[in-house]
Amino acid sequence: MLVSAEEMLTKAKAGKYAVGQFNINNLEWTKAILLTAQELKSPVILGVSEGAGKYMCGYKTVVGMVNGMLEELKITVPVALHLDHGSYDGAKACIEAGFSSIMFDGSHYPIEENVAKTKELVAICKEKGMSIEAEVGSIGGEEDGVVGAGECADPDECKMIADLGVTMLAAGIGNIHGKYPANWPGLSFETLDAVQQKTGVMPLVLHGGTGIPADMIQKAISLGVSKINVNTECQLAFQEATRKYILDGKDLEGKGFDPRKLLAPGAEAIKATVKEKMELFGSVGKA
Ligand code: 13P
Repeated sequence: MLVSAEEMLTKAKAGKYAVGQFNINNLEWTKAILLTAQELKSPVILGVSEGAGKYMCGYKTVVGMVNGMLEELKITVPVALHLDHGSYDGAKACIEAGFSSIMFDGSHYPIEENVAKTKELVAICKEKGMSIEAEVGSIGGEEDGVVGAGECADPDECKMIADLGVTMLAAGIGNIHGKYPANWPGLSFETLDAVQQKTGVMPLVLHGGTGIPADMIQKAISLGVSKINVNTECQLAFQEATRKYILDGKDLEGKGFDPRKLLAPGAEAIKATVKEKMELFGSVGKA
């Protein structure tokens, strides 16, 4: 059964480790992540962006697939199904569809509007026993070939949003989605420290987990990060393994064209990436 992310993140914050959010794109992705979490006895959060939700034929399809897998694969570790960077309407649709957690990303609104919308969604989530993530200070990333620097959140604004009763808070600390540019100055630990001092026990979320060096990840965890989002790194691992399979001519040997064979190396590569991250984040054995 899907669970809210609240308990797993409260434990992570207290125990000074982080739970990984791994974004899913299809059946293979979901299965690879769930099997790895079960094998390593780690709690896990499955992230679904609005685009990926659309790709997988809508939120209800995603809920059906994930619930089916939890039962058929006999998954007993805590699993949360979480909307990633949701709009206000997307958040409502996921609440309806049976997600156990949502993120409302109001970081692009003026702070008053972010507060008002977050507050409304907090009330709905509380009533349903769901967890909710909010964001202050937008996360940078590549859009149309232009790489935006990650914004640093205002710690006072973080406190305003945290006080609304959200479960976890994503604060921009110079992090970026996708690959980091060569001249990236690194995470702003000064900002993270200031945000944690204002928000206390609130589990903090680090987006853009792909490509952040291990020492920075560990330092971020020591300063209150309890949830780390990883997406691109699994995509790159899948792409590299699939590319190798084809370039090695494996698809031309015997029944190598069978999609179950063709997609297997990519799925194994996702498993290896998820395992590596869970070990780095310290969530292994915490389920
Ligand atoms: P990456 O794609 O950089 O790993 O970021 C994932 C993320 O933060 C999803 O919200």
